[in-house]
Amino acid sequence: MGSVSLKIGDGTARFRRSTICSSAVNLLMLFSVVTTNLFALYAFSSHSQADSPLHHSNNISLVSQHLSLILREIDSSQRKLAQMEKQILGYESIDLSRPNIGPELKLFLQRHQLPLGKDSRTGITEMVSSVGHSCEKSADLLSQYMSYKVFDRCPDDWSLGQKLILRACEPLPRRRCLAKTVPKQDLKQSPNSLWGTVSNKSVNWSGLGCKSFDCLKGKKLSRECVGCFDLSSEKDKFVKVKGKNDFLIDDVLSLGSGKIRIGFDISGGSGTFAARMAEKNVTVITNTLNNGAPFSEFIAARGIFPLFLSLDHRFPFHDNVFDLIHASSGLDVEGKPEKLEFLMFDLDRVLKPGGLFWLDNFYCASDEKKKDLTRLIERFGYKKLKWVIGEKSDAQVYLSAVLQKPVRA
Ligand SMILES: *[C@@H]1O[C@H](CO)[C@@H](O)[C@H](O)[C@H]1NC(C)=O
Ligand SMILES: *[C@@H]1O[C@H](CO)[C@@H](O)[C@H](O)[C@H]1NC(C)=O
Ligand SMILES: *[C@@H]1O[C@H](CO)[C@@H](O)[C@H](O)[C@H]1NC(C)=O
Ligand SMILES: *[C@@H]1O[C@H](CO)[C@@H](O)[C@H](O)[C@H]1NC(C)=O
Repeated sequence: MGSVSLKIGDGTARFRRSTICSSAVNLLMLFSVVTTNLFALYAFSSHSQADSPLHHSNNISLVSQHLSLILREIDSSQRKLAQMEKQILGYESIDLSRPNIGPELKLFLQRHQLPLGKDSRTGITEMVSSVGHSCEKSADLLSQYMSYKVFDRCPDDWSLGQKLILRACEPLPRRRCLAKTVPKQDLKQSPNSLWGTVSNKSVNWSGLGCKSFDCLKGKKLSRECVGCFDLSSEKDKFVKVKGKNDFLIDDVLSLGSGKIRIGFDISGGSGTFAARMAEKNVTVITNTLNNGAPFSEFIAARGIFPLFLSLDHRFPFHDNVFDLIHASSGLDVEGKPEKLEFLMFDLDRVLKPGGLFWLDNFYCASDEKKKDLTRLIERFGYKKLKWVIGEKSDAQVYLSAVLQKPVRA
């Protein structure tokens, strides 16, 4: 049966299933399907031959009794199948009848009939609010999250929300309370905001290790954010070359032949990539969670768009919209290879044909990892405009590339 293991702390929630058990359930499903069909066959053939009531006594009530028996059996098998399928997938949709589901969550998840009946365009008759299916696994936290006074102030619990997201409870349910406000002090006009200092007071530091941006400056928060709150050291990024794996923004933009206007940065640290792009009049959305630091607040204070979303979530963009996608080691989602494949296909989806995928200093922890990623990239058929695999001073191997998405027939 599907078990889910979650690792919290680096922005990803991972799923693992014990394959032996799944195969057993698969076999069980197969068995169930076969027996259901055998039963139906038996019921039909036995009655249509020797003692068929149709031929002998024309007893319609007998026939309909048998029929309804068969239908009931099929129906119950189908329900059993659906149940097994849920177990194989490792989740069930949230059961609103369970006792610890709070009234607000119930209200939010209630189906709402469309007032004018079936919508002719979509064919739907009711609207359902969305919430991550894995929220079921964190029902207690979710109930806590949904406990508040309606129309009053929300509890000061952004970190609870993030904790749920990291447990794959994404999207979170909406709430009917007012989020805490923190006055945004000394916000600067663009473009000065891109490199200006951000006031410590514009962030609620409760629950964070650091209590000021100065404290964050020396911290290694992730592979993409080594002291990334220190803008004086961030200034060199993308405009000065430190090694052969570093590409210059101008060089990459010129590869896009002047048609780079909007972009998406995966796990973009403190937003420096988007800041540099803003100076080139390119609008970049920076995907980030607040793991260990107020990334979202800081990025927003720079006048850049922070997207609070984990990498496990399908990107909320339509197909073929971005001119450019920038990603670094944040792309390194662990777990089964399929996980990275799902992510790469989603990135491919939102990138326009002819758009650029800039893989920037992707850390190859092993030769295997490098080969896997290279093989995967090659399967997408992108044109390699730049491709550099090199060791840096830390003797680790990094891959940098600029790839162009093909126009597929
Ligand atoms: C038809 O079958 C039912 C149930 O077996 C029985 O009660 C009924 O008497 C039968 N009717 C005829 C006309 O044979
Ligand atoms: C933030 O706080 C630190 C230490 O508390 C202080 O040294 C620094 O000047 C403050 N910075 C800003 C921009 O307010
Ligand atoms: C910050 O959050 C804590 C609780 O998490 C709260 O007590 C405090 O009042 C908040 N501070 C500000 C300035 O909003
Ligand atoms: C960006 O746009 C502004 C205003 O249209 C323009 O003055 C500036 O030259 C542009 N910068 C670049 C790098 O294209």
